[in-house]
Amino acid sequence: MASDPLTPYGNKPMVTPIVNAVNYEYDSFEVLRQITDGEIDGYTYHRDDNPTVRSVEKTVAAMEGAEDCIICTTGMAACTMVYLTYLNAGDHLILFHDIYGANYKVSLILERLGVEITWVEATADGDISEHVKPNTRMIFCETPSNPLCKVIDIAALRVQADRAGAMLIVDNTFATPYHQQPLSLGADMVVHSATKGLGGHNDLMAGAVAGTKEHYNKLWFTRQAIGTTLDAYSASLLERGLKTFDLRAETMSANAQAMAEFLHGHPKVTRIIYPGLPDDPGHEVASKQMHKGFGGLLAFDVGEAEDDAKTFINELKTIYHAVSLGATESLICIPFLTTMLSLPPERRTSFGVKTNTVRLSAGIEKTDLLLEDLKQALDKV
Ligand SMILES: Cc1ncc(COP(=O)(O)O)c(C=O)c1O
Repeated sequence: MASDPLTPYGNKPMVTPIVNAVNYEYDSFEVLRQITDGEIDGYTYHRDDNPTVRSVEKTVAAMEGAEDCIICTTGMAACTMVYLTYLNAGDHLILFHDIYGANYKVSLILERLGVEITWVEATADGDISEHVKPNTRMIFCETPSNPLCKVIDIAALRVQADRAGAMLIVDNTFATPYHQQPLSLGADMVVHSATKGLGGHNDLMAGAVAGTKEHYNKLWFTRQAIGTTLDAYSASLLERGLKTFDLRAETMSANAQAMAEFLHGHPKVTRIIYPGLPDDPGHEVASKQMHKGFGGLLAFDVGEAEDDAKTFINELKTIYHAVSLGATESLICIPFLTTMLSLPPERRTSFGVKTNTVRLSAGIEKTDLLLEDLKQALDKV
């Protein structure tokens, strides 16, 4: 009997093999028919599906309490696949100002295609009733949001989405499934930039959308059509990152909480936003819908002007000046100069972000090292 090269002697590899094949040899025309008729799971062409990718999809689905999950090339591919799959010309989409900047660029494309968009302010109670219209088809939010870590009541949004018969999509990148499972709070789908906390090591880009099997099938159609299937190597890196995900998320959150408490009331810090602080406007709702901590991200204003924030960042020694988030290393940036560049300058500061606002993503370093780094750098401002 010919042995399967992936399981010689029946021993299963501890790690899902990286299957780099673009195409697969059909065993017979009958097998081809069974695959194309959807009678059996099978692989034919990488743009359709890949076993390494499929394996990590099942892991992320389980983490979000979803029936299934579709993995794609980047977080923005995931967001765009959701918009393209469900929105038609004439539909109304509600977006929150404080979501990842590149969504603004996508919104310009959607408007060109005839989608009507309203940008709304995020408030913890999630009251957007005045913006909901008969043609509202989708509400898309982040909580906590990027970069201002604003919290929105997901269950309250669900009630308003139901009134309009709209879908509710939550980008769970900041919270991660360790702290928050939006599907259990009423979201239809959860989106991730898996580039961030899920991958966790600054070495891969990927996106994910988790939800029902029906949503998986619809999103699969879009992914197959436009070709946003992840490569097998990145899927393998993502799978490896997920093995330590809980440990990293726990440590990142503990470090963020400790840094927020240190920064709160510091004379050089003129504003701090972190849902784990009892006086934060999002604390009450976050305590209800998040668990085991409040995530690894915080935002704060340094001094009074952009140069104060720049001086502070230039003096940091342990914390890296870089974009992205959710990594093993602590990362800091000025959103006005980086992640929000897709927005026109006046728009960047129209909903609470200032030129001296910094976004800090806690890593898994020793807490004392991080606190010492913040202290010495703030002393120089
Ligand atoms: C909340 C959030 N969603 C989506 C994205 C886009 O992800 P990617 O960079 O993987 O395309 C980002 C990127 O920073 C993000 O922070």
